Amino acid sequence: RDRGDLAGVRVLVTAGGTREPIDPVRYLGNRSSGKQGVAVAAAAAARGAEVVLLAANIDTSVLAEVASDPAVRVVPVGTTAELDSTAHAAAKGARVVIMAAAVADYRVADIADHKIRKEDSAGDAPTLALVENPDILVSLVRERQGDQVIVGFAAETVESEDELLERGRRKLARKGVDLLAVNAVGWKEGFEAEENDVRVLDMDGDVVAAVAGSKREVADALLDAVRDELDFAESP
Ligand code: PMT
Repeated sequence: RDRGDLAGVRVLVTAGGTREPIDPVRYLGNRSSGKQGVAVAAAAAARGAEVVLLAANIDTSVLAEVASDPAVRVVPVGTTAELDSTAHAAAKGARVVIMAAAVADYRVADIADHKIRKEDSAGDAPTLALVENPDILVSLVRERQGDQVIVGFAAETVESEDELLERGRRKLARKGVDLLAVNAVGWKEGFEAEENDVRVLDMDGDVVAAVAGSKREVADALLDAVRDELDFAESP
């Protein structure tokens, strides 16, 4: 496969939502279906990239889009710790890293080794103590390989376009990424939906793309911005 504007470019994509176990049968999770990240992986492969897709708890029906694509290697992960270690290993060989996964900010402090039983709690509702997870994106930026292009997503519940961009710009500064794809999320938007509405911010906080459409259309607009970053890095 040597056609396309990302021919031969190695791209690492994370997708889906991490889950943090509470006990052997329960977890804390989020509603990410993986559709947006899988669309990024499929679009990158269609443009010639060699893709590693770290898939956090994604349904096989969603993964079907890339399952038979020889240019996409799918690696399933469960917890944030698993995503953290596999992402760092895979990032070593990647020219581009795109973190579309919804990562749990907290995990359960003490995972019970047996099912927490209602009859053991003497009528009191149990309390879960949480500890903060590492920020994978921040550490990937800290350990950036050469002139690697690193892209984050930001999922925000907001009241207005201004608030969306303002929160996006703050997150951009905190994470230190080259590009940040900002999407408004809510009960119906972003997570699980077939469509998405995204602004892509560059390092200066300028909007370099605004696209509302299918998750594949969003993926291609994001990859156009990535292509521009690669061209800039490769220009003499
Ligand atoms: O999967 P879908 O159903 O298609 O939904 C798509 C989506 C809404 C999940 C996706 O478009 C999206 O926004 N993904 C990022 C969700 C998210 O967790 O955003 P955040 O604002 O909490 O995190 C910002 C960035 O930091 C993300 O790139 C995230 O991967 C990364 N992060 C966050 C926390 C953490 N501990 N480590 C991280 O690396």
